[in-house]
Amino acid sequence: MGTVIINIKKLVNTRIENKLLRGKNLADLPCLNDAYLLIEDGIITNYGSMNELPAEFSHSSSVIDASGQFVLPAWCDSHTHIVFATSREEEFVDKIKGLSYADIAAKGGGILNSARKLNAATEDELFNSAWERLEEISKLGTGAVEIKSGYGLSVEGELKMLRVIKKLKEKSKLSIKATFLGAHSFPVEYKENHKGYIDLIINEMLPVIAKENLADYIDVFCETGFFSPEETETICRAGMALGLKPKIHANQLNLSGGTQVGVRLGAVSVDHLETMDDEAIQALSNSNTIGTLLPTAAFFLRMPFQPARQLIDAGCAIALATDYNPGSSPSGNMNLVNAMSCIQMKMLPEEVINASTINGAYAMELENEVGSITVGKKANLILTKPIPSLAYMPYAFGSNLIDKVMIGGEWV
Ligand code: NIG
Ligand code: FE
Repeated sequence: MGTVIINIKKLVNTRIENKLLRGKNLADLPCLNDAYLLIEDGIITNYGSMNELPAEFSHSSSVIDASGQFVLPAWCDSHTHIVFATSREEEFVDKIKGLSYADIAAKGGGILNSARKLNAATEDELFNSAWERLEEISKLGTGAVEIKSGYGLSVEGELKMLRVIKKLKEKSKLSIKATFLGAHSFPVEYKENHKGYIDLIINEMLPVIAKENLADYIDVFCETGFFSPEETETICRAGMALGLKPKIHANQLNLSGGTQVGVRLGAVSVDHLETMDDEAIQALSNSNTIGTLLPTAAFFLRMPFQPARQLIDAGCAIALATDYNPGSSPSGNMNLVNAMSCIQMKMLPEEVINASTINGAYAMELENEVGSITVGKKANLILTKPIPSLAYMPYAFGSNLIDKVMIGGEWV
């Protein structure tokens, strides 16, 4: 007993084996026309052409006729900060009036503003607002998500955030990974005492995180005015000693050296990459580290978009993500990320779908669970409205083209 979806116009990203896609392979998107898909106990159990539909399908408790509709694996959003206390639209207005991201950070706004508010919020308040954001993104087609701490910047604040993420993991149908980003900014009281704050991260935060199993990854904002490459390495190595692999904020505002540090440490991913030179691209292309591009952050901060074509042509493995956060990307809409990636970064529709599904799954080490239409993977699916072609999705960028979303076998 389960669900069978029949008459699917195109079943997208059907794969027998997992493969991290790089270079030319990123445009290789296997699909099946006029297909059926069988789901049992929340898992994809079979798929194929309609003319091979097994007779037993009629025993399924629910039969969905998807004539004219496409079925895709749900989006894998491998970089977000969806646990936060309040939005920051007042800074958005300041930016319209001419202040830069760095100006706002320098006057105590930005991350420090979010940290003040987060430390004043209760765990329940943070859980409830993050839960609403999870509901929001799941309706937009996201089935797996990475969530970072980093708005606590105090022992209690960071642990509170990570405990909220742990509870989200336990209660949500989405696949969730947790990242410790205590090194998101230096708190005011440690502005002149970097070593003091790094010691706090290493000696007070990390041991509790490891003991209570509160994180899967460690992240550092490696950036001029934030954490230097040396500080990034020290913090990541301390996390790695406790089993946390790095996923680093790198090369966003400056040529920070973060990409090279990430590659050297064997990071799962280096994320942002608005500001890249040949050396950074070369380092990334010769590695197994994934470059995660966050185009809505570049858009929101009016920065040049990530050099996706150069990265793909150099053979880097890239993923796409939203960076959903109150300061640089107040949107968790992967459909918009995909459209922007086609329009502004000249990625092909097939490339963005791969980068937002299977490569995104790899960027969370969830490739055996989600990211493609594969027998045995979780039934995390997007059922589109009737559309003429796959390219129509990023093309019609302002329209909601999603009819239904299934997470773990249940319609959301
Ligand atoms: O990924 N770049 C660093 N951190 C976030 C922004 C955080 C904020 O402004 O609140 C980002 O863009
Ligand atoms: Fe981020």
